[in-house]
Amino acid sequence: MAKKIIVTGGTGYIGSHTTVELQQEGFDVIIIDNLCNSEKEVIDGIEKITGVRPEFEEFDLCDRNKVVDFFRNNTDIDAVIHFAALKAVGESVNKPLLYYHNNLVSLMNLLESMNQFKTGSMVFSSSCTVYGQPVRLPVTEKEPLQPAVSPYGNTKQIGEDIIRDAVTSSGNLKAVSLRYFNPVGAHPTALIGELPRGVPENLVPFITQTGIGIRKQLKVFGDNYNTPDGSCIRDYLHVVDLAKAHVAALKRILEGNMKNNYEIFNLGTGTGVSVFEAIKSFERVSGLKLNYKVEGRRAGDIEQIWADPSYANNELKWKTVSTLDEAIKSAWDWEQKCKSKH
Ligand code: UD1
Repeated sequence: MAKKIIVTGGTGYIGSHTTVELQQEGFDVIIIDNLCNSEKEVIDGIEKITGVRPEFEEFDLCDRNKVVDFFRNNTDIDAVIHFAALKAVGESVNKPLLYYHNNLVSLMNLLESMNQFKTGSMVFSSSCTVYGQPVRLPVTEKEPLQPAVSPYGNTKQIGEDIIRDAVTSSGNLKAVSLRYFNPVGAHPTALIGELPRGVPENLVPFITQTGIGIRKQLKVFGDNYNTPDGSCIRDYLHVVDLAKAHVAALKRILEGNMKNNYEIFNLGTGTGVSVFEAIKSFERVSGLKLNYKVEGRRAGDIEQIWADPSYANNELKWKTVSTLDEAIKSAWDWEQKCKSKH
């Protein structure tokens, strides 16, 4: 019988792409989402791609009674992939309590119910932000963590700690934290993708919105960093590659292949790309000239970080396959498809 997986935040950017990959691998998915930063129509896109409509439950995971009721009524859940969280770095600085409350209470409600109802497996959405500016590059999972630069980043660090301690104290729970580098792009069908509300904070949606004319000009935040071209360096990976890593992590837990009951993996390409290189990639795949201007540095930005993904490559048998140009081309295709929605 098909395994039943809860995907919290399943109508969001990474959650929707992961739902597609899970369904294509034969898993049954129940999405839980409060739609605070996503649209219900995303489920239509998932159905069009896979031919299967995932079950959908609309509620807020911070509501403990609702979470308990859900698990009480669904005793056949095999695992939880937990994406649902707030993720805007700047907003988290202005509204720290909202971020701590939302991201941590929801996680604890889930873990408590998983303990109570004996659902033993979780995959958690973490972030490379937990490393701060690493001393050694590329960064491995062994790199010591730095104090978080934003409440958002801190919720990821604390979230990892909560899960590790919950696993240690439980005879039942197993979990994997996946530290994402910078996910970009959209599904090749252009039926699902990133749907930022308002002005995007992230580079690639800002680039594509500038390309299509919704934004006048991209601001490049700093060209005087200690990097080859002076702009910041990140590790941009295609969201479909990232989604497939969740399936690999889930199978590792469910098939009993873990080395420890709590494991951590970096998910990136292993290649650093500068802001100027990302712009050039966009210009290559779109045939357009991007209107951009160099501005001052953005507060809290890390100069350079990219992954050493070899642990995930070896243990999860997972590797990114898309190039930067393919990822940015898919983001551009999606932007063109979405034009009417803005
Ligand atoms: C940030 C967070 C990361 C989080 C991600 C998702 C940190 C250190 N990183 O990633 O944890 O998961 O957001 O929201 O907190 N840039 C411009 N102009 C723009 C936008 C961005 O030049 O208009 C530059 C930035 O300075 C940076 C790069 O593009 O060098 C990538 O920025 P962004 O897409 O916002 O991602 P991160 O800051 O790496």
